Amino acid sequence: MRIKNKSYQKVCHLIASNIRDLVKRHDNPVLGLATGSTPIGIYKEVSKMRNTNFSETITFNLDEYVGLNGWHPQSYNHFMYDHLFGKITFKKRFFPSLNGVDLYDDLIEAYGGIDIQILGIGTNGHIAFNEPGTPRKSKTHVVDLTENTIKDNSRFFDSIDEVPTQAITMGIETIMKAKRIYLVAQGSHKKEILDRAINGDITPEVPASFLQEHPNCNVFYSD
Ligand code: PGA
Repeated sequence: MRIKNKSYQKVCHLIASNIRDLVKRHDNPVLGLATGSTPIGIYKEVSKMRNTNFSETITFNLDEYVGLNGWHPQSYNHFMYDHLFGKITFKKRFFPSLNGVDLYDDLIEAYGGIDIQILGIGTNGHIAFNEPGTPRKSKTHVVDLTENTIKDNSRFFDSIDEVPTQAITMGIETIMKAKRIYLVAQGSHKKEILDRAINGDITPEVPASFLQEHPNCNVFYSD
């Protein structure tokens, strides 16, 4: 596995094109979607694909905060509506929720598993909200967010006190079951952790490092 350096624009275009190809050739495509700054450009490209029919596509989001209702401006549900779901009609859109934590992995399997999973990486090496120390075998679960993540995400809130302290996230095992993964890191603040994740030891201390064991994970870095 190696890190491919490309402009952010090129990365977004490439991943969006691969999503389109999947959706065109698959009867029941399943996408795993991420939130945060990184995937915004990908969703912008996908939103422009007016000639592609997404009405048989199922989406599963990686994570959601605990304690924000779906229409809170900082909920991931709302984020997805703003950037993608308000523009493209999918067959079904799933988010992990408190009353279905134990069922999320089964639901993904019931729909045939995730064909393409989009992932960002946290500055502490997290994928989704799998913070350092999360075991490889983890399924969808509730997590206490680390101070590092709360601080990183506070830029979206009026004050750091408003950032939820818990979230529900797909586990590492859940993510590793995706058939194809695109891991995208953008910005010099992600360079070092991405290098550790891809070229360093495989360790729960850097949850993204488990991706080294994935048979079809594509890794991109943009300045
Ligand atoms: P970002 O978040 O895309 O907003 O940088 C990535 C992550 O924390 O997984």
